[in-house]
Amino acid sequence: MGVLTLVHILVSFAACAEALRRADFPQGFVFGTASSAYQYEGAVNEGQRGPTIWDTLTRRPGRVIDFSNADVAVDHYHRYKEDVDLIKDIGMDAYRFSISWSRIFPNGTGEPNEEGLNYYNSLIDVLLDKGIQPYVTLFHWDLPQALEDRYGGWLNSQIVNDFVHFASTCFKEFGDRVKHWITFNEPHNFAIDGYDFGIQAPGRCSILSHIFCREGKSSTEPYVVAHNILLAHAGAFHSYKQHFKKEQGGIVGIALDSKWYEPLSDVDEDTEAAARAMDFELGWFLDPLMFGHYPPSMQKLAGDRLPQFSTQASKLVSGSLDFVGINHYTTLYVRNDRMRIRKLVMNDASTDAVIIPTAYRHGKKIGDTAASGWLHIVPWGMFKLMKHIKEKYGNPPVIITENGMDDANNRFSRLENDLQDDKRIQYHNDYMSNLLDAIRKEGCNVHGYFVWSLLDNWEWNSGYTKRFGLYYIDYNNNLTRIPKASVEWFRQKSTRMRLQRHILYVHGTTNAEISVKGKGFAASGASSASLQLTPSTQPNDSTEEKTAQEEGMENVETEARDGEKGR
Ligand SMILES: *[C@@H]1O[C@H](CO)[C@@H](O)[C@H](O)[C@H]1NC(C)=O
Ligand SMILES: *[C@@H]1O[C@H](CO)[C@@H](O)[C@H](O)[C@H]1NC(C)=O
Ligand SMILES: *[C@@H]1O[C@H](CO)[C@@H](O)[C@H](O)[C@H]1NC(C)=O
Repeated sequence: MGVLTLVHILVSFAACAEALRRADFPQGFVFGTASSAYQYEGAVNEGQRGPTIWDTLTRRPGRVIDFSNADVAVDHYHRYKEDVDLIKDIGMDAYRFSISWSRIFPNGTGEPNEEGLNYYNSLIDVLLDKGIQPYVTLFHWDLPQALEDRYGGWLNSQIVNDFVHFASTCFKEFGDRVKHWITFNEPHNFAIDGYDFGIQAPGRCSILSHIFCREGKSSTEPYVVAHNILLAHAGAFHSYKQHFKKEQGGIVGIALDSKWYEPLSDVDEDTEAAARAMDFELGWFLDPLMFGHYPPSMQKLAGDRLPQFSTQASKLVSGSLDFVGINHYTTLYVRNDRMRIRKLVMNDASTDAVIIPTAYRHGKKIGDTAASGWLHIVPWGMFKLMKHIKEKYGNPPVIITENGMDDANNRFSRLENDLQDDKRIQYHNDYMSNLLDAIRKEGCNVHGYFVWSLLDNWEWNSGYTKRFGLYYIDYNNNLTRIPKASVEWFRQKSTRMRLQRHILYVHGTTNAEISVKGKGFAASGASSASLQLTPSTQPNDSTEEKTAQEEGMENVETEARDGEKGR
């Protein structure tokens, strides 16, 4: 028995060490890296690009910790070709990037700017040429300053039409090749940080008697902005469905930031507080998108400060997505805020949830912390969040549009230490293991995973002080890209994954199209019961063929390829 037990332990150990393989993920599961235009491109005065609200914010003192701006960022605008090679080298299937609205429409509206179209056309073509699927975000916070000046940007419902015009232009110009669209990145974060705390663009707030911002109203503006974003999202979704989907065959989703909120204790008031915390972050957007109305807890607590959906608007918003993108990084405990002193002090939207979030329980921290103080490493939060989405929303198709962690940009540390990012490898291993458990054990309907981020980059208020990349950027040496250990870790997984795919294909057991049937998902609105998560038309993928030949499987003639924050 002793020997058997030992063998058993050894086998289990080996199984553990092998625990995470890309091949364990469902057929067609997509791995990618994510980025955004303002954090990567630089070249802010090139290609007729118009200024954005972030260009304006970074010119105001005290907003960015290292006094930097993104005028150069990591020069992706000029180096996209070599960056696409890096994505290819890791063996990723997909690249999530955002289109800068003010490169397409320097003034926000009107006729599209040829230079902007040309740039994104080239990027898309280079990606496809390397067999990498583009996943395109339309709004990653960088609103054209012209629209902020003209009518107050997201505070004004005029923006709905202008966004739909921008989105439709992108569908028209790029949709023959782009099959995955993400309308908005982190609208919760945008609304709260931009209009409640006022630390991010456009930097509006009223907290603490306007000590930080000249203008704004923290108790109402976040709700107005979120409402207009939801209407703009729905407008873009329906424009796609009506004018482009039949011909182009792509899908449209949104990327919502969501922490997991764990009750601090199992007493009812804390359990309810955690549920409210989820309502005010994820539910704020996902409830309208699924059910056509805001969460009841928000309606009750925000009252008439929360805009209402007309019957018609409710119908348009409800069901207006093909997949739910989730940007997930961290988890917090939550308890009920009995005293409500925070509410009195802040008089803002963020305290409407009547909760107190905390990283500590009985003096013990919820997890290790990354370089950013808010980023507690809590892998099990991924599992619980996925289960929550499945149970509350009827198991809609989900793509993890961002997950990752940062190291500090420490100018005194040695390069070889910076490159040996074991903590990042552990982070991805543990979060992906929990994701896999959610898929395998709970049947969660998850179809992709995007790492934030491909490269170290300009991290909003943190400037260049944080490093989220799989590739290290040498800021002192012409922005040279150097692979960290995590690149090799992902690369090994992808090689095995590809092999597995080809074998399956040779035996004819695979199908490039996955038909996603969400239990109860159809009940949420007019959208169809059967969703195509993988687009029905796929561009030809010569690179996959090459990989197959390299691997000595010449008989594989064609491969139908199956198909990503920030503070
Ligand atoms: C954009 O606005 C600028 C300044 O208001 C103006 O000079 C320019 O003609 C406008 N361009 C277009 C295409 O509307
Ligand atoms: C910096 O890197 C870019 C892109 O690799 C290259 O084109 C350029 O020549 C380099 N500049 C210098 C001064 O080495
Ligand atoms: C893919 O390639 C085949 C053969 O080269 C061609 O007949 C077909 O039209 C191509 N499909 C697309 C979508 O480009």
